[in-house]
Parts: sequence; C-alpha cells; structure tokens
Amino acid sequence: MAILITGGAGYIGSHTCVELLEAGYEVVVVDNLSNSSEVSINRVTGITKKSFAFYEMDLLDREGLDKVFTKHSIDAVIHLAGLKAVGESVRMPLSYYHTNIMSTLVLCEVMKEHNVHKLVFSSSATVYGLPEQVPIVEDSSLGATNPYGRTKLMLEQILQDLAESNERWGISILRYFNPVGAHQSGQIGENPNGIPNNLMPYISQVAVGKLAQVNVFGNDYPTIDGTGVRDYIHVVDLAKGHLRALEKQLDISGVHIYNLGTGRGYSVLEMITAFESVTGQSVPYRIVERRPGDIGLCYADTAKANMELGWFATRSIEEMCQDTWRWQRLNPNGYEGEKIHHLLTN
Ligand code: NAD
Ligand code: WQD
Repeated sequence: MAILITGGAGYIGSHTCVELLEAGYEVVVVDNLSNSSEVSINRVTGITKKSFAFYEMDLLDREGLDKVFTKHSIDAVIHLAGLKAVGESVRMPLSYYHTNIMSTLVLCEVMKEHNVHKLVFSSSATVYGLPEQVPIVEDSSLGATNPYGRTKLMLEQILQDLAESNERWGISILRYFNPVGAHQSGQIGENPNGIPNNLMPYISQVAVGKLAQVNVFGNDYPTIDGTGVRDYIHVVDLAKGHLRALEKQLDISGVHIYNLGTGRGYSVLEMITAFESVTGQSVPYRIVERRPGDIGLCYADTAKANMELGWFATRSIEEMCQDTWRWQRLNPNGYEGEKIHHLLTN
C-alpha cells in the first residue's frame, strides 16, 4: 500500500516515514525543502534500510503533483507540509495563508482527480486558542489567536466541508500538542533554522553551548511554579499516532478529530530540571517577561485517541530529554554540511 507523505523531509514527517516504512508501507515523499534538508531523507533510508521515492517539489505545483499521483498508485495521504512558525505568521500572513491553504486545496483537488479519498491532516492544539478548561477535549470551543493557527482552523473547516460533499472521503484531523524528542538512533530530529522558537530545542542548544541561557517567559501563571505548562509528546509516539489513524481510516468515512498528547503537563522549570538530570548538563536560565500570546496551561484529554485508535503515548519525559540530547550531541549543527548520497528511487 502506497502512502504519500507531504512534508516528509521535515521534523515530524521524517519520523512518520520511519514508522510507515518499518510497518511495511510503500512511502512517497513530496517536500520543497523550504524548512528541511534532503539529508533527513537519506537518514530515514539509513535507519530503515528501505529506499523510497522522494520528490523535491512544491505542493502548489499542481502539474508536478499530478505526475506523482500518476506514477504511483497512492492509497492515502498524510499531509504535514506547511509553514508553522507563529511569530513569522504574524509578520507574513499572506505567505502563511497562501502556502498552507492553497497547497491543501491543490492537494485535495489532485487527490479527488485520482480517486484518492483518505487523508490524515496535521492540525495543532493551537486551534483551541485560550482553552476554557484542561485537560482539553476535542469538542472544546475553538479560536486561534494568530494567522498560523487560523490556517489550521480554516483547513479543518475546509476538510469538514469536503467530507460532507462525498462520503468516500475519510479524513483524520490530528491535533498535536508539543512534539519534542528525536528518533532513538540520534540520526533524525528537529533542525530549527537560526535561534529556536520552541522550548525544547532552545534548552538543548543551551546545554550544548550554542546559546547562553534559556529565557523563561514569565513565572506568574497560575501553574505549579508559575511557568507555562504544556503537554510535551515524544515525536516517535506522535509518528505512531499517524500510523494508527491511517489504519483506522482506511475503512471509515467522514472526519475524525483526535488530540495527540500524553495527557500530562510539565512546566518550563520542570522541563529544564528534567533535561539537566537526564543529561548531566547544566542549563542556566533567567526569568523574563511573558511572551505575548502565550497561555498558562495546555494539556490534552487523550481518551478519544486511546479508545478509538488504540493509541497511547508511552515515552516518558526522560526519554524525550535523552533522545533530544543524543540528537543534539551527534548533530550540533543539525543536517548542515552533510553531503547527499543519492540512494533514492525517483
Ligand atoms: P517542518 O517544518 O519540519 O516540516 C514541514 C515540512 O513541509 C518541511 O519539510 C517543509 O520543507 C515542507 N513544506 C513547507 N511548505 C511546503 C510546500 N509548499 N510544498 C512542499 N513542502 C512544503 O515542521 P514539523 O514540525 O514537522 O510540522 C509538520 C506539520 O505539523 C506542520 O503542518 C505543522 O504545522 C504541524 N504541527 C507542528 C507542530 C510542532 O510543534 N512541530 C505542532 C502542531 C502541528
Ligand atoms: C512552550 C513553553 C513558553 C521558549 C508552539 C506553537 C504551537 C505549536 C507548538 C505548531 C511556553 C515557554 C518557550 C523559550 C520559554 N506549533 N518558553 N522560553 O508556545 O506551547 O506552542 O509550538 O502548531 O502552535 O504556538 O511551544 O515550545 O514555544 O513553548 O519559556 O525560549 O515554553 O512560554 O510556556 P508553545 P513552545
């Protein structure tokens, strides 16, 4: 069975490729490498000892995408490609709306033309905006607070409309909480450009000596120690969630929405302490102002994914720190500077 993974060279995509290849699926990746490197594709091949087709292609390239669907007999699509930086989306809203919305429309149109109606879509806990209560259940009220989040909300609505138009569509919307960690091989992981926006890559770059200290954004939230609490989920658990969603939806129709998190929150200071104790590295920090737009508490109710998908996040906070650190130590500059070996089959 052939699965198209858009954004498969990226952080979550590369881990999802590994899980699918190891489960025996044929994988086809389309990625324009705007926020990733072909090295990750090579590394996935190295980990799994399986080759697969990779197309360096923008999803907005309808003709190119059409050729991919003509060449491969695609059964389902996991759609991860898109722009994802909240701050950048505020500065460049048109770019975010254009890329995220248009590319999904082109993808769905080409899928429809080729009679492919099974889709797993990457959404985000950001669609809950300021949560009314935690843990957050899937039918909580929605309301994104920035252009990036609004692209996810709009796309969720577009996909609902699409599924209502024809019962052949089977669509899983996965709302990720805070993906962290890396594959246990240390070969693939998160590879942010420049100074990281997210906490975990920032902590690991402080630990490896690339950055001086963590700026902790506020310690006056109504949480255990005043710092922000999030539901960090190991990227391998997240990748396995895609596999379960895919397996489930091959024989169902309509839209199904799932939170993918652990159901447990950790504060910024708890994350720093866990990282220090697992790695033995010191992670200096200082408390600074709250980051505009941040919320205090965010963690998932995962009962729906547990019950309907039979999926559970099993990796602990210690494994998240250990695997992040292994990836960071082995690849202090990410994928930069590594030559590509063209082992691939396209
Ligand atoms: P990523 O940037 O590592 O991966 C996205 C990939 O999409 C990149 O490889 C990029 O080159 C590719 N891409 C972007 N625009 C494209 C286009 N027009 N055509 C083809 N390829 C394109 O990000 P990630 O963290 O792996 O995120 C994957 C998905 O999960 C995204 O949709 C993101 O919004 C969503 N998500 C991520 C997080 C997170 O914290 N990482 C949380 C919730 C949701
Ligand atoms: C986590 C906690 C910060 C950095 C973002 C996006 C969201 C989703 C995941 C895509 C918060 C604190 C952080 C730092 C800090 N992405 N922090 N110092 O904000 O929960 O979610 O990524 O969909 O849309 O908004 O994640 O890792 O940025 O922050 O103190 O240098 O760490 O205030 O409490 P966030 P994060």
